[in-house]
Amino acid sequence: MADFDTIIIGAGPGGYVAAIRAAQLGQKVAVVEGRETLGGTCLNVGCIPSKAMLHATHMLHETHENFEKMGLMGAQPTVDWAKMQAYKDDVVSGNTKGIEFLFKKNKVTWLKGWGSIPAPGQVKVGEETHSAKNIVIATGSEATTLPGVEIDEKTVVTSTGALTLANPPKSMVVIGAGVIGLEMGSVYARLGTQVTVVEYLDAITPGMDAEIAKTFQRILTKQGLKFVLGAAVQSVTKTDTGATVSYKLKKNDSEASLDAEIVLVATGRKPYTAGLGLEALGAEMGPRGTIKTDAHWQTNIPGLYAIGDAIAGPMLAHKAEDEGMAVAEVLAGKHGHVNYGVIPGVIYTTPEVANVGKTEEQLKEEGRAYKVGKFPFMGNARAKAVFQAEGFVKLIADKDTDRILGCHIIGPAAGDLIHEVCVAMEFGASAQDLALTCHAHPTWSEAVREAALACGDGAIHA
Ligand code: NAI
Repeated sequence: MADFDTIIIGAGPGGYVAAIRAAQLGQKVAVVEGRETLGGTCLNVGCIPSKAMLHATHMLHETHENFEKMGLMGAQPTVDWAKMQAYKDDVVSGNTKGIEFLFKKNKVTWLKGWGSIPAPGQVKVGEETHSAKNIVIATGSEATTLPGVEIDEKTVVTSTGALTLANPPKSMVVIGAGVIGLEMGSVYARLGTQVTVVEYLDAITPGMDAEIAKTFQRILTKQGLKFVLGAAVQSVTKTDTGATVSYKLKKNDSEASLDAEIVLVATGRKPYTAGLGLEALGAEMGPRGTIKTDAHWQTNIPGLYAIGDAIAGPMLAHKAEDEGMAVAEVLAGKHGHVNYGVIPGVIYTTPEVANVGKTEEQLKEEGRAYKVGKFPFMGNARAKAVFQAEGFVKLIADKDTDRILGCHIIGPAAGDLIHEVCVAMEFGASAQDLALTCHAHPTWSEAVREAALACGDGAIHA
């Protein structure tokens, strides 16, 4: 008899969700986690603390930008950095304790320590070896760095160090205009840091709808961020006052450098699978260090599964959560399923940026006939009332069938608005279905409906 039905390695959004669902489905479950707290990168040093910092600094920005316009007069708040950090830490500990509570409630055992898999069906934690009918690897990812660039998490930092700086720096160079670079860059720009983002490609946020990316860059530039695009970073050298970032411009091979107090390396993440013993087990690997799995998240070793950032697909907490639920269902003999065509992506800047489904660029490449309905937040009464009228909704539908193929939003609460489109897509809805759905007035959601109307006979307020 095995000690457990399922042992999950890693208590991030993939692992802890898999554990709770497996327990709900009647399994005896253990989760191996070596951190002091549950929740993985996302809760401890990623999504959640960064959202706290984004919220606090957005509030600060609002007082400077918009309070007087609304007749709110008086002294501007100043930043107590230690208190802001404490607020962020409280948010994190509230959430990690919440998962501990959920584990107890669902009778999930937490095996504290770092796990390895000495043989199929066995997980070693410290000196103890536990057996399980099935093992799920949910070990997530770690930040990548550039060749020769040494991270010390003090001067040259990843997102982890960027969340715990001793003070907001005077200047910061962010390497990489992806999600982490722009979210953390926004936090510090709002705190008065001079932020310069150096990006290898010729546009920010690679893979995003090009029109949205362009608008996003224009808005961020207005907020004070500087961009150097088409620049390959060659080296980062520490100096007495910070570090020097040297780069080569791709267009003419010219070299230049920037000095900054802090350098944030945000050039992507890679699967974290070190120490699991995968090589000795003979686990098949895919591209970029991912673990190869089949359609049911099973590796080539029977009973060994993998989910989340450690396997193929977007490195997103909610994609890992969905896979966690689905794999738990598979292990319980049910039909776990993830619709990889409908996974939203959100950047939590102000304004927020959100997307789901195909971009115009992808559809062009596929040679598909499509139509676009666009609506600017300038035409949305609610957005104008609260000084958040920048941006637009872009809905893309099949030219012939009107079926929704994708949606791209830059604007207020974009990260929430996107979900009505996700639901519509899950149900195979047409743009007209959305356009005929009554939307409360005055809400930001009306902009989504107007974009859907624009796919047909036209938006009303544009
Ligand atoms: P990313 O893949 O989003 O962006 C990395 C950027 O660095 C790219 O634009 C790339 O072209 C650039 N780059 C790479 N090498 C470079 C070089 N030598 N010089 C200049 N630029 C270079 O990676 P990021 O921002 O580090 O995020 C990592 C992962 O975490 C992503 O998968 C992201 O989706 C996820 N994440 C998601 C969040 C969200 O959903 N809101 C928040 C934070 C992270």
